[in-house]
Amino acid sequence: QEELVVLGIETSCDDTAAAVVRSNGEIMSQVVSSQADLLAQYGGVAPKMAEEAHSQVIDQVVQEALDKAKITEEDLSAVAVTIGPGLSLCLRVGVRKARKLAGIYALPIVGVHHMEAHALVARLVERELQFPFMALLISGGHNLLVLARDLGHYIQLGTTIDDAIGEAYDKIAKWLGLDLRKSGGPAVEELAREGDANSIKFKVPMKQHKDCNFSYAGLKTQVRLAIESRNIDAGIPVSSASDEDRRVRADIAASFQRVAVLHLEEKCERAIEWAMKMEPSIKKLVVCGGVASNQVVRARLNQIAEKSGLKLVCPPPSLCTDNGETLPLLLGVCIREIIFFHQLWFPTTLLCP
Ligand code: KG4
Ligand code: ZN
Repeated sequence: QEELVVLGIETSCDDTAAAVVRSNGEIMSQVVSSQADLLAQYGGVAPKMAEEAHSQVIDQVVQEALDKAKITEEDLSAVAVTIGPGLSLCLRVGVRKARKLAGIYALPIVGVHHMEAHALVARLVERELQFPFMALLISGGHNLLVLARDLGHYIQLGTTIDDAIGEAYDKIAKWLGLDLRKSGGPAVEELAREGDANSIKFKVPMKQHKDCNFSYAGLKTQVRLAIESRNIDAGIPVSSASDEDRRVRADIAASFQRVAVLHLEEKCERAIEWAMKMEPSIKKLVVCGGVASNQVVRARLNQIAEKSGLKLVCPPPSLCTDNGETLPLLLGVCIREIIFFHQLWFPTTLLCP
């Protein structure tokens, strides 16, 4: 079987990334250009700025990836690129670059779905992960419960009706005056370790809904009100707050986290029940996306999986977030099957998102 050599390009958010991967999973090179300084300057991703930053570095990032892999465009079998979901202005930069290369070197383009890539990264750590399996994807923009029946064949059992859990972590980090140079989730998780998770009784969202959907907007509001009623000055970073003030913030962080995760547990348990009715042979629960790097999330979902007789598969934190490094890598690892599944998407038929 001929080895394929695939260039992966990822520009769905704020990092410009490219990697060259062999179809046997070997990573030949990986290059990421980060926009961390822009992030700190604007307190988040500003799509127009991010698009310009991508445009400025994309050629260089791709060239570097090829150089590091010691190959030229002529050696490539295909170009893979994230086609969404993501910021469309940013996605476009990657797709344009992929199309250009594909046009010049007559290469097939493989358009990769961002969330499919997140779900399939589990196969890097669990080589024998067989379909069907359950997947919970939790990130800054997504909260999805999916029954993965086969490549490209996913049944969505639940999604968020408003915000995703990662978005809630990020906002609460901001309101609690945490260091935003890191992303919000890890900062809240760290502070929560000092707090009492039962000190504030936030209401678990969507209790009355007998479905598998999520909602984090209401919980966000509950937390905001709790912060306001305790006269916390978020203008003062937690690192310079008094001991008493710091303890209050830690209690809020811990109480929020307890309920946020409880919401995941409840819906996930129900989704497993539903999925088992459709596919009794399911053996694994895959949890991925940025929030899956959270230790409390992992521990609680492990219990849920065990209770249902499933094994939890949770990639290491470095493979859970986009961070630019990971997506091109997953693109490569899944590429052989994805190429066959999508039957080689040629440049002329690839629509720009
Ligand atoms: O998958 P990801 O890197 O990007 C997308 O949103 O697609 O996920 C990023 C999200 C952010 O909201 C971040 O705060 C959250 O994942 N996150 C965490 C943790 N690490 C990252 N949330 C809670 N606990 C963590 N340890
Ligand atoms: Zn992502």
